[in-house]
Amino acid sequence: MLDLINVSYDTQIPNNVGLSSDKRVLKALEKWHPGYINWWNDLIPDRFQQSLVYLRTAVSVDPKGWAKFDYVKMPEYRWGVLLAPQVEDRRIPCGEHAGQPAWQEVPGEYRNMLKRLIVIQGDTEPASVEQQRFLGSTAPSLYDLRNLFQVNVEEGRHLWAMVYLLHKYFGADGREEADDLLRRSSGSDEAPRMLGAFNEETPDWLSFFMFTYFTDRDGKMQLESLAQSGFDPLSRTCRFMLTEEAHHMFVGETGVGRVVERTCQAMKEAGIDDPYDIDRIRALGVIDLPTIQKKLNLHYTLSLDLFGQEVSTNAANAFNSGIKGRYMENRIDDDHRLSDATYQVRNIKGDQIVMEDVPALTAINMRLRDDYVRDAAGGVGRWNKIIEKAGVQFELKLPHEGFHRQIGIFSTVSVDPEGKIIPKEEWQAKAKDWLPNKADGDFIQSLMVPVTEPGKFAGWIAAPKVGIDNKPGDFEYVKLHMA
Ligand SMILES: [Fe+2]
Ligand SMILES: [Fe+2]
Repeated sequence: MLDLINVSYDTQIPNNVGLSSDKRVLKALEKWHPGYINWWNDLIPDRFQQSLVYLRTAVSVDPKGWAKFDYVKMPEYRWGVLLAPQVEDRRIPCGEHAGQPAWQEVPGEYRNMLKRLIVIQGDTEPASVEQQRFLGSTAPSLYDLRNLFQVNVEEGRHLWAMVYLLHKYFGADGREEADDLLRRSSGSDEAPRMLGAFNEETPDWLSFFMFTYFTDRDGKMQLESLAQSGFDPLSRTCRFMLTEEAHHMFVGETGVGRVVERTCQAMKEAGIDDPYDIDRIRALGVIDLPTIQKKLNLHYTLSLDLFGQEVSTNAANAFNSGIKGRYMENRIDDDHRLSDATYQVRNIKGDQIVMEDVPALTAINMRLRDDYVRDAAGGVGRWNKIIEKAGVQFELKLPHEGFHRQIGIFSTVSVDPEGKIIPKEEWQAKAKDWLPNKADGDFIQSLMVPVTEPGKFAGWIAAPKVGIDNKPGDFEYVKLHMA
């Protein structure tokens, strides 16, 4: 194994930030690195630490350098610090400083806000690796195992990216925050991760696919809005992270799609037309569509909570100061200041959900969530095409945004998936039909047996259409190290 503690950063850590000539940051990262490697080694069981995984490694940000595929032992993965190229004469895109040159150093008046946003983003990256730590031992194929690890090492790199910013721009308290990112852990009682969805379990592979589809997509939206930051180093960091994030959502979308495909196929083969004939469908060793819908309901609603309060002065401040933009800020045709604009937000009046105009500045979270909902609907449509093509009568749906919410205006009422406010008791009585219950979880768990022969897949999931890096179907994506 590499001597990871005495790594030569300039050669071992791919970077385009001139690390070798930045002695102060280099030293800080060298001090932080052993803790990171310990964290990694604690998470991933030994058999996988020693296994050779066919991974994509980013060694530079140009098209040729950011997707290099090769077999790597994960602890030796080259976690790089890579920023998208600087855009010449970039300007602050929004808020009261709109049009002024983008900041290359931290603007003092916004230091704390900026640091907090970087820490929150940074906290989610290792959290998801922690949540997914047990999945390796039940992977439905080597292809899927490799995708899991690809997502994991890239979330690790995203942590590096945020830690670099903390070390480089925030001095002693940045260092402390960087240490705390390794101290907190998902689901911990004493020091949990900062956001709710990142303390939930990812107990099975369908959860993993739903998580990468729905929760990584929240990540994408947050990164998109940070990519619009007037603080240029943050913008450049997030822009490059987004190229990797796209693969995570691909893993989620195709993963769920393959589960749906296999279920429909098994139903057809067995001559079962009724998607609600659950016992018979489960007896085929596949996951019935209503249960897939329940998993969707859970992960979608947990992810909606990540957008925070619909009306928020924090969000208004972040936008107004130019620290965080809207989704595709640079393509929106308005004054980018929102001084007089309004935006429609849902609110509750008695037992009705109504639309209300509020100052657009305070509705930044709501707007981002609306963009997210539109974005998330795309894949659901494609899953339904698979069901339709198979000739099964069933439609997956995003539940109403008020359903099963812990944060925001809907957290105070009980809303059914159709968007109707109902009595709490009624909601609780029906919850088992809307969200995965213990029996659903146990059934899915019973299917989670590892398949490690190249080209073979567990019976509950279809093979992918194409291989990673155009590899053939029986490619050995992971060379397992059997101790
Ligand atoms: Fe990430
Ligand atoms: Fe991700």
